[in-house]
Amino acid sequence: MDLSKLGDLMRKTQSAIVEKERLIKAMDDIQSAVGVDGVRAMMESALTARDRVGVQDFVLLENHTSEVAFIENLRKRFKENLIYTYISSVLVSVNPYKELEIYTKQHMERYRGVNFYEVSPHIYAVSDNAYRSMRTERRDQCILISGESGAGKTEASKKVLQYYAVTCPASDHVQTVKDRLLQSNPVLEAFGNAKTLRNDNSSRFGKYMDIQFDFKGAPVGGHILNYLLEKSRVVHQSHGERNFHIFYQLIEGGEEDLLRRLGLERNTSQYQYLVKGNCPKVSSINDRSDWKVVLKALTVIGFSDDEVEELLNIIASVLHLGNVQFGSEDSGSAWITSETQIRYMSRLIGVDVAVLKEALTHKKIIAKGEELMSPLNQEQAAAARDALSKAVYGRTFSWLVNKINDSLAFKDDSRLSSKNASVIGLLDIYGFEVFQNNSFEQFCINYCNEKLQQLFIELTLKSEQDEYEAEGITWEPVQYFNNKIICDLVEEKFKGIISILDEECLRPGDATDITFLEKLEETVGGHAHFVTHKLADGKTRKVMGREDFRLLHYAGEVNYNVNGFLDKNNDLLFRNLKEVMCRSENKILTQCFDREELTDKKRPETTATQFKTSLAKLMEILMSKEPSYVRCIKPNDAKQAGRFDEVLIRHQVKYLGLMENLRVRRAGFAYRRRYEIFLQRYKSLCPETWPSWNGRLVDGVSTLVKHLGYKPEEYKLGRSKIFIRFPKTLFATEDALETRKHSIATKLQSAWKGYSQKTKYRKLRSNAIVIQAWWRGILACKKAQRRRQAADTIRKFIKGFIYRHQPRCPENEYFLDYVRYSFLMKLHRSLPKTVLDKSWPTPPPALAEASEHLRKMCMQNMVWKYCKSISPEWKHQMEQKMVASEIFKDKKDNYPQSVPKLFVGTRLNGEDINPKVLQALGSEKMKYAIPVTKYDRKGYKARSRQLLLTANCVVIVEEAKLKQRVDYNSLKGISVSSLSDGVFVLHVPCEDNKQKGDVVLQSEHVIETLTKLAICADKINSININPGSITFTGGPGKEGIIDFTAGSDLLIAKAKNGHLSVTAPRLNSR
Ligand SMILES: Nc1ncnc2c1ncn2[C@@H]1O[C@H](COP(=O)(O)OP(=O)(O)OP(=O)(O)O)[C@@H](O)[C@H]1O
Ligand SMILES: [Mg+2]
Repeated sequence: MDLSKLGDLMRKTQSAIVEKERLIKAMDDIQSAVGVDGVRAMMESALTARDRVGVQDFVLLENHTSEVAFIENLRKRFKENLIYTYISSVLVSVNPYKELEIYTKQHMERYRGVNFYEVSPHIYAVSDNAYRSMRTERRDQCILISGESGAGKTEASKKVLQYYAVTCPASDHVQTVKDRLLQSNPVLEAFGNAKTLRNDNSSRFGKYMDIQFDFKGAPVGGHILNYLLEKSRVVHQSHGERNFHIFYQLIEGGEEDLLRRLGLERNTSQYQYLVKGNCPKVSSINDRSDWKVVLKALTVIGFSDDEVEELLNIIASVLHLGNVQFGSEDSGSAWITSETQIRYMSRLIGVDVAVLKEALTHKKIIAKGEELMSPLNQEQAAAARDALSKAVYGRTFSWLVNKINDSLAFKDDSRLSSKNASVIGLLDIYGFEVFQNNSFEQFCINYCNEKLQQLFIELTLKSEQDEYEAEGITWEPVQYFNNKIICDLVEEKFKGIISILDEECLRPGDATDITFLEKLEETVGGHAHFVTHKLADGKTRKVMGREDFRLLHYAGEVNYNVNGFLDKNNDLLFRNLKEVMCRSENKILTQCFDREELTDKKRPETTATQFKTSLAKLMEILMSKEPSYVRCIKPNDAKQAGRFDEVLIRHQVKYLGLMENLRVRRAGFAYRRRYEIFLQRYKSLCPETWPSWNGRLVDGVSTLVKHLGYKPEEYKLGRSKIFIRFPKTLFATEDALETRKHSIATKLQSAWKGYSQKTKYRKLRSNAIVIQAWWRGILACKKAQRRRQAADTIRKFIKGFIYRHQPRCPENEYFLDYVRYSFLMKLHRSLPKTVLDKSWPTPPPALAEASEHLRKMCMQNMVWKYCKSISPEWKHQMEQKMVASEIFKDKKDNYPQSVPKLFVGTRLNGEDINPKVLQALGSEKMKYAIPVTKYDRKGYKARSRQLLLTANCVVIVEEAKLKQRVDYNSLKGISVSSLSDGVFVLHVPCEDNKQKGDVVLQSEHVIETLTKLAICADKINSININPGSITFTGGPGKEGIIDFTAGSDLLIAKAKNGHLSVTAPRLNSR
């Protein structure tokens, strides 16, 4: 739905609510202003202007005791096509004899779920009210439709059914049921209705239909009870009347092929059973289209093709049978004059022609224990033929009803347990009828109407008044005519007309219709409602035949002609005809004519008694349900629209007891309920009575209605019931209940949700606890296992420790393994990282050897790694440092300081040395050069010089001069002090003239210089380290001494003794 529509809808709903509130308020205002009738007026004013014609409820009539006013109101409304008017809850319906636009789906929707008085009177309102009462009060309902023939009962019952079919909830299954319920009507009407003088579609059987509803209110099944079909119509119709519709429909509508198969002609005048009334065509009936409707309905109901064929075979057979004519032989015996009909018939119902012929013309008698076939005369044969036709048709009709019942039956009985199932009964029976010539059928029909009237009186007038009395409600009795007296006249045991008729039928001797009449005169002659020609006064006698008796029915006087009463009551069919039917190949007939019937010696009950019993049962059924009434009125005898025949209507108003009904209603209360039911239903509306009332019921109800604000004139409390005067009061209470239901439902819902959630939670919780317990169990098991293992381990450990010095044995193997393992692991964690790191964990004794191996391997590995990673420069450096270490370690005081200082390649580069020097050296490559201080051999003067090392010699250079060159081969040795000074002496051979003696030098980097020199000259072992003094040769025969002493500062100077004195600071204490 789009938003604009939704907005519209909300606006409409809003305005409807405002309107309703306005109306309710206006209603209250009017009520307080004008009293009781004002309320009704208000209800009226709420309706449309058109509906306000007259009053829509006779209870609102100004002059409610006036019959004139009553009829005037009916007329006013009838003129405006308002055919429905209420007398409180009773619906009065006047047949409009024309189609009105008031039965559309929209109308149905308008009445759905709406309170009775909120909308204009309608058959739908009654239907809806019954439906809602059924649902809310869970009580079976029935809708009783009464009125004379042609008043509109059948139409009304169809409207009710349609209403339920459209408005009740449906599922697929329910839709089928609805269709079948609806389609049962055209079928039953085709076979059970006929045109009479009173009604073109007159019901010639009584019908009571139960519609079954499931707990959701959907129609789920149905059941039909049928009452006494007017069978005589099959063989005879009064002038202007017709046989049952089906015969005409078949002949008019049946396809050519079908008719040919059935041996029928499309001409109704060809059939004796259809010509009696001389009225084959009726303007209001279209037999051809009705035929199609019926055929379709049969399929919807579930008839198979074979069943339809057999059904039509029977209908055609009846027509053929009607055409069978008899001649009379000289002996008086009857014979069949036309073969064709009998042949068709025998073929159609599958019986032997000869057997059928014999059965139609003979009667089986038993004489002296022997069965004999006694021929019938012409008249008897015709009677036997008609009896057979009636029996066949009548029984087929009952079969049809049973078949429909099968199809309507609710299959799943479990769902329809008495607790869940609810029923609405619908009674549509033949109406009261009076013809020129009234026979046994009219007697039965009118008796039936008499019984219904009595029921109406019982349930409305009498019981209502009895109830007020019983309940102690102040009450002014209303006089009414109780027709019980007429019912008794007809049905009373031994004394009633039916008993007398039965007696005449059963008694031995020559009983005739006339003897029956005489017997009646004898027995009930004195009855106020019974007259015969003989007993009547002069005036009455003139309008009565000698064979008539007159009954003064509640609805009028009817003369019944006794002719045929005995036969019709006996309803006899010759035994041999029954036998033939039992043998028929037609499946329907074999079901209709049971073989057991042939052997059953008991005389069947007479028709009237059967009817009486079935009516008594019907009354019981109706009494057990809550009734709604529809009283149908026929506006004229001409079946004309718009004609309001006042005399006819007054008559009906009178005999239907509508005035009394109105008076009782006016004085009475619209609603009453037993205290417990009332309290049970509405207790939720009052805090004191909800959820339960523990005191006396009457006090509970009193508290409740006071809480609801009932005014004293609105209700009365009886002995066991509360009486509510106005429907409005009840409706307001109902509305309140509707609202309250929602809040109760919400509460229930929340309670239920809470409960279900709690249950769910509890379940989850208990499940969780189970899982937890299991899990904890598992954990505890694991923990215990671990502890056990731990204890075992500790035990093993301790034992192992104790036995640790023993040879390996089971007791100590674990311990030993563990110790090894932990040593190896520890080793693994703390392996030395560098070759200098000498740490190594102490191995257990068993691993001492392995540990040593490992240690070596580890060291080798580290060394190898170290060596691999060392650069050539560094290697060279290290080699020089190794040499230095060999020479000076622990021998010279400043050696330790030299260790961290890296040796450099040279301290003087090419550019620092005079090129001439380099030139003088020639190809000899300089390996190392350093500035040094030279001390003269004599005066020990210090002079700056450069010391150069080549591959073969050491050279002393002064500027550009090569001052001295000493080949390594001739270098005798090198002396140096053990102190921290840088003085050293190169010893050269003194015999070499070129040399001027040993050279005394001082270097700032003495360790480096001497190491390089030692390496170049390969004189590692020729370096002498002297602790005190060094003696050197200063030329041939000359000797010099250098004295070394430790002091605070470096001081080199010539001492007084002529020695060179060197004082060197002490760097390392040794
Ligand atoms: N509500 C209605 N609207 C239109 N026409 C109606 C209505 N009620 C009855 N009729 C007309 O009146 C005729 C007779 O009505 P219906 O067959 O219902 O009478 P009845 O009371 O069942 O009579 P009977 O007792 O003979 O069966 C209908 O065929 C129909 O033409
Ligand atoms: Mg009818």
